[in-house]
Amino acid sequence: MNNQIQADCLTYEKQQHFSLLNIEHALFSAKVSEYGGQLLSFKPKGKRELIWLSDSAVTDGTKAIRGGAPICWPWFGAAPSSSPEQPQHGFARTSRWQLVQLSETDTEVKLVLKSPELEQALCEQQLDLVLVYTFSDQATIALETTNRGINDYELSLAIHSYFDIEDITHTQIPELQGIEYFDKLSQSSAVLKQALTVDAPVDRIFHYEGSELTIKTRRDSIALAHSGHDSVVVWNPWQDGAHAMTDFDDHGYRHMLCVEAALTRNHILKPGQTKSVSQRFYLI
Ligand code: BG6
Repeated sequence: MNNQIQADCLTYEKQQHFSLLNIEHALFSAKVSEYGGQLLSFKPKGKRELIWLSDSAVTDGTKAIRGGAPICWPWFGAAPSSSPEQPQHGFARTSRWQLVQLSETDTEVKLVLKSPELEQALCEQQLDLVLVYTFSDQATIALETTNRGINDYELSLAIHSYFDIEDITHTQIPELQGIEYFDKLSQSSAVLKQALTVDAPVDRIFHYEGSELTIKTRRDSIALAHSGHDSVVVWNPWQDGAHAMTDFDDHGYRHMLCVEAALTRNHILKPGQTKSVSQRFYLI
């Protein structure tokens, strides 16, 4: 029995309980895990890897994969107060996903993934999520959430991308200067006075609805374009935080920065509505 989608650009790398989707194209190579439906690698041809994945990430399907671009859905952060026992960042990143559509041209590859397991877990809320990846020399991750129920749903989410940035002490995001943020570590709000730099643990929700962001590294820059979001989350656990996580290699914090396109501000999804949020990124 094999109803898996086949395509010239696609190979399935079998793991014990799921596969990794490896895509090779003239313009890029990419890897997407069926577990979590998450991007694990994106490399434009002839250029460097843009995505950071922890060397000690658990990839056997027993916990969320540390690194790549996990999908936090249908909530970002702690579970809603109505169900506090549920996991942080929701179920999408620990559900099994299926590739349901693939189209390939000379200029791009598009993948559509769905998760029957996730829909089952959320059958009461009748929410569904379609994950769409579009790859060329750029990568776009798009989440399309539809409320098929009869009640409003307060949706929060994040495309929790871990970017490979070589050296955190030489990394900046200029566009966040002047933007108000909520600091999850100090539980207080402030306005960032200068370009964002990181030399300590950072866990901030920026109220940034602009599209463009630039992660400037020592050797190059990663350009980001967000849509449909109401916030940008920036996270780096720094040395002690990384050390406390068994799936985060001790020195990894120096080489990664999470910059997340997110909905964190009480977004109400009405019955019948679809909300799309996306993050596109490329090397410049
Ligand atoms: C960030 C949150 O998005 O994700 C942080 O703002 C959190 O508070 C981090 O610590 C990692 O979360 P997790 O569940 O993958 O360890």
